[in-house]
Formats: sequence, C-alpha cells, structure tokens
Amino acid sequence: MAKRKRYLFVCVNRRPDGTPKGSCAQRGSEQLHEQLKAKLKAAGLHATDVRACTSSCLDTCWVGPTIAVEPDHYFYGRVREEDVDEIVQAFVEDRVVERLVLGPEDFLEPRELKPK
Ligand code: FES
Repeated sequence: MAKRKRYLFVCVNRRPDGTPKGSCAQRGSEQLHEQLKAKLKAAGLHATDVRACTSSCLDTCWVGPTIAVEPDHYFYGRVREEDVDEIVQAFVEDRVVERLVLGPEDFLEPRELKPK
C-alpha cells in the first residue's frame, strides 16, 4: 500500500462508565472509525489519499469524539455519525469542514474535570 497523503487518528479510548471525563468510545468513536473507513473506501480515497487509523486518548476528551488529521495538524471534535459524509466529501474536494475544527480554547481542560 502507498503512503497516504493524510492519516486520520480517531480516538477510540474507552474509560469506565461514570468517569467524569468520559471518553470518545463512550460517545461512539469506534463506530465513527468504521464508518470513516468504509466511506473513504467507497470514495476511492483509502488506498492513496486518506487512511483512517485508531488512536488512544488525544487529551481532548471533553470535546470528543476527536479525530486528529495529519500531516495537516488540525483536530475535528464533537464528531457525530451524521458528520462522516461531509468529512469524506471534504477530503474528496481537498478542503476542511471548518465547523468541526477545534480551536485553541477546545484544548483547555474544563476546570471541573481537573484533578483536585
Ligand atoms: S478519550 Fe478521546 S481524546 Fe481522550
């Protein structure tokens, strides 16, 4: 397989139920990863352009599910199943789904989640 232009790192970290921080897997990221893989393949991007990989915690749990896009180095956050088609289409058109891109403030852990 060729080196892809982009690699997506979909956080599939799972924490125990009831953990205040929650986790991307609890919010459906495993299904998101499977959907991304299938839809990238259907779009013909999987072999040369974009590979959807899984990742451990990307330390942005509070805005998960989170996907790191490399080497572009931006993160999609709060991703839902209904966003997958738009994300894949954006790769087809070589653009970014701006409404899902995390800003600098999204990387700051909310005070109520910080260890006391
Ligand atoms: S659990 Fe996904 S970013 Fe932390």
